Amino acid sequence: MLVLGIETSCDETSAAVVDEGGILSNIIATQQIHQKYGGVVPEFASRAHMRQLLVIIEAALQEAKKNLADVQALAVTYGPGLAGSLLVGLSVCKGIALGLQKPFIGINHLEGHIMATAAKGEAVEYPFICLVASGGHTLLVYAEEPLQYKVIGRTLDDAAGEAFDKVAKILGLGYPGGPQIERAAAKGDANAIAFPRALMENDNLDFSFSGLKTAVYYHVRTLDANSAEQMTPDIAASFQAAVIDVLIEKSLRALELFHCRHLVLAGGVMRNRTLRQAFQLACSEKALKLSLPDPELCTDNAAMIAWAGRMRLLQGQSSSLSLDVAPNLTL
Ligand code: KG4
Ligand code: ZN
Repeated sequence: MLVLGIETSCDETSAAVVDEGGILSNIIATQQIHQKYGGVVPEFASRAHMRQLLVIIEAALQEAKKNLADVQALAVTYGPGLAGSLLVGLSVCKGIALGLQKPFIGINHLEGHIMATAAKGEAVEYPFICLVASGGHTLLVYAEEPLQYKVIGRTLDDAAGEAFDKVAKILGLGYPGGPQIERAAAKGDANAIAFPRALMENDNLDFSFSGLKTAVYYHVRTLDANSAEQMTPDIAASFQAAVIDVLIEKSLRALELFHCRHLVLAGGVMRNRTLRQAFQLACSEKALKLSLPDPELCTDNAAMIAWAGRMRLLQGQSSSLSLDVAPNLTL
């Protein structure tokens, strides 16, 4: 089944084509307009999706060497995300589905992230634990069988990616913060400052990153401007190490508690190379199977949505034209 996927939940406008062979195309346009504001401006995001989405869909079809007439079904993110941005993607999807007289399915963006490694053709072994760490979410999910998810841990405050973005702001680095922190941290000492690791007591699978962010803030406040700049690599590296430690510790704990040997990683934070290496090491030490999406499949993209949609469509599921966006959708 050839599926056209559409993703417009935040500031990436993306369209992808997948079929039984895997990903045929995955075009992602990251909106640049938000950089100068230090965060996503919702109305600008919706308008940029409106301007770009049809062009991106055409590009995805062209790269896949397919025509609209080849599309057998569509999949689109209907939540969680920014309401105005989701509306653009869902409305365009409905229009195309109606025009082609083909089914479409609304997909939970979080399920899309979980399916990112599967989209690349990697065999998924059930049950598995998935750690989703993105700008908006930090979740530990237990997947016992296909399309069944149980959230077993979540952040009580900031998401991991949000912490990267906020700490980058405190350090005067740009947006999005993750890549900037990673760059600065490469030149720093991860043991320079002992930042806190929260909720580490036994059996706790929840996360909290706001205390860590506040600790960085107060640490920077004790420094004058000159030494703060000099210390930036050490602060970034020590902060990054604290986040990675917590994410690994909780993931290993979840695997143990749920008797799983397969860990799937998902979400934008998983682009971080230091984090990827640390997870690879931790899992190989314990002979655990680790699934890590390629970097372009970690951050928001339509291939993961198309793949999750294809799985559901193949089971006979589809959505009705009355489907509304769900900005606060959970798993
Ligand atoms: O999954 P995603 O594209 O969007 C959401 O669904 O939220 O994730 C974006 C998040 C941002 O917070 C960004 O700072 C973070 O992923 N991120 C990173 C890196 N690249 C992106 N965090 C740490 N290191 C990176 N290299
Ligand atoms: Zn996302």
